[in-house]
Amino acid sequence: MSNVIKLEEVSRIYGFGNATTVALDEISLSVEKGEFVAIMGPSGSGKSSLLNIIGLLDKPTHGTYHLSSRLVSKLRPGRLAKARRDHIGFIFQSFNLLPKLTALDNVALPLAYKGVSLSKRLQQASLALERVGLQEREYFFPKSLSGGQAQRVAIARALVNNPSLIIADEPTGNLDSHSSRVVMELLAELHSTGSTVLMVTHNPELTRYATRVLYMLDGSIVYDEETKLGEVPARARASTDGMPKDDESEALESVSAFLHEIPAKPAPIRKRLVNNTKKSKMSKSKRKVKKVTQ
Ligand SMILES: Nc1ncnc2c1ncn2[C@@H]1O[C@H](COP(=O)(O)OP(=O)(O)O)[C@@H](O)[C@H]1O
Ligand SMILES: [Mg+2]
Repeated sequence: MSNVIKLEEVSRIYGFGNATTVALDEISLSVEKGEFVAIMGPSGSGKSSLLNIIGLLDKPTHGTYHLSSRLVSKLRPGRLAKARRDHIGFIFQSFNLLPKLTALDNVALPLAYKGVSLSKRLQQASLALERVGLQEREYFFPKSLSGGQAQRVAIARALVNNPSLIIADEPTGNLDSHSSRVVMELLAELHSTGSTVLMVTHNPELTRYATRVLYMLDGSIVYDEETKLGEVPARARASTDGMPKDDESEALESVSAFLHEIPAKPAPIRKRLVNNTKKSKMSKSKRKVKKVTQ
C-alpha cells in the first residue's frame, strides 16, 4: 500500500461540556507517497488541527489514523513522540527555533533524541544546512538570522532525519516575497526527491508547487482536486482568503464574516512589498476593506 496517510472519519473536538468546538468533523483522507498537498481555507476552518493530527502532535477525538500503514491514532504519548521523530519533519510559520542554540545545534537536535553520536549529528546537521544554502551560518544564533534564513534553518532541521512526511503550516506566512520563493523552491526540491509534503497556505499562487489542493471549511474538506505542477487551479485563484468562491454574493458574505480574523488575500508575489513593515500591513488592511465595499 502506498498510502502515507490514511485518515478515517477523524474528528477533533476541543473543550468539554457546553463549551466544545468541533475543529475537525469526520474527515476521511488518503495521501500517497510523493504527493504535494496544499491546504487552503479560512482561519478557524481546522487546517492546523488537521496538520497537528497528521503530524502526531495531537490525537483525534474519534476516528483512526494510519501513517505508513501503521495505526498511530491510539499510540501512547512516548510512542507517538518516537513515531513523530522518526517520520515527520515540521516547518511552522514562526520557525520555532530554540533561541539559545546555534543554527547547527538547532538542526542537530532531532538527531540527539534519536541517540545519534555527537560527531555524526554535527556532520549531518552541517550537510542539511548546506542543502538549504546556509553553510556559512552554522554558528549564528536565530536572532542574528533574517526571517528567510531562519526558515531555511527550520527546513534543514525538518529534513535532517530524512522524514517520510514534511508538514508545513503557513511556512511563508512571515516572509517577504523573495524569501517565500526561496523557501518554496526548497520544498519543491524535497518534493522532487520523493518527499511527501503537506502545506497550509493562504496564498493561491503557492498552489503552483502542489499536485493536489484541499479546501477546508468548518472542519470539513469541501473540495479536493488534483492539479498540475506550475499551475494555479481556477478554484484556488478565485479564492478569497483561502476559500473558493462559488458565487459572488456568497463570497462577499464569507469575506465580511471572517474579516476580523483573517489576513487579506495576498497580492500576486511580484507585487508584494519586500519588507514586512507596518506600512505594508496598513496597505494590506486597506485592500481588505476595499474588497468588501466593492
Ligand atoms: N487548543 C484549542 N482549544 C480550543 N479550541 C481550539 C484549539 N485549537 C483550535 N481551536 C479551535 O478549533 C477551530 C479550528 O482551528 P484551527 O485548526 O487552528 O484552524 P485554522 O488553522 O484553519 O485557522 C477553531 O474554531 C479554533 O478556535
Ligand atoms: Mg492555522
